[in-house]
Amino acid sequence: MKFTVLTIFPEMIQEFCAHSIIGRGVDRGLISVDAVNIRDFTEDKHLKVDDTPYGGGDGMVMTCQPIFDAVEQVKSESEHSPKVIYMSPQGSVLTQGKLRQLAEEQELILLCGHYEGIDERVIENLVDEELSIGDYVLTGGELAAMVVIDGVSRLLPGVLHSDNSSVEESHETGLLEYPQYTKPENFRGMSVPEVLLSGHHANIEKWRQEQMIERTRTKRPDMYQRAVEDNNSIIAQVNARIAKEQSRARRRASRKDK
Ligand code: ADE
Repeated sequence: MKFTVLTIFPEMIQEFCAHSIIGRGVDRGLISVDAVNIRDFTEDKHLKVDDTPYGGGDGMVMTCQPIFDAVEQVKSESEHSPKVIYMSPQGSVLTQGKLRQLAEEQELILLCGHYEGIDERVIENLVDEELSIGDYVLTGGELAAMVVIDGVSRLLPGVLHSDNSSVEESHETGLLEYPQYTKPENFRGMSVPEVLLSGHHANIEKWRQEQMIERTRTKRPDMYQRAVEDNNSIIAQVNARIAKEQSRARRRASRKDK
């Protein structure tokens, strides 16, 4: 998977991509990240990439020329006709589903804006999609581009240690992840839930499913509501189990009555 980030701060992207799991993915050739400096494309003799807005107002607007030239150059060097994604608080808000969809692409161009934004003609003519990382405003698109690179990369085969570890996590199942514990068994009087030490795999699985549901219901009621509406398979399994246990209990009670 190749990401080309168009930015006026390429060092931010390069630094980020040199570390941790993303850095390892890059070293192993699973991901490639090219940070392209928009300023390298400007025809302005003072190397300007922005100007004052027509109609007046505060701040500066990034100009068309360097961005058009940068995108055209990157596209002309690519075999995959990559989508151009503009990182913007006006975009649709990123979700795990969107990351999964982006992970199917072979190449993406992530365009980062600054100042008060970019000339609308860039968005109308070059941009395929606008993506936001949340309903708040950052000083530029770089952090958002890094979020996309991180979130997509960890879904690519071989990037994480275990290919399964992205599947069980929060959001992939439509529910939050169950709580995790590691050694020691007792830390300052706080102990690990008994069931996790039992070695009884079916009971552990059952407990984890119940925890996923309960913590989603309390921590993210919006997400829980969606999961219920979507007929979430884990909620369905747990409900079926509870119904079975209740009917067994009723049969036992009625046998006792006779
Ligand atoms: N640029 C500025 N704010 C942003 C946001 N919330 N998401 C994506 N890009 C941005």
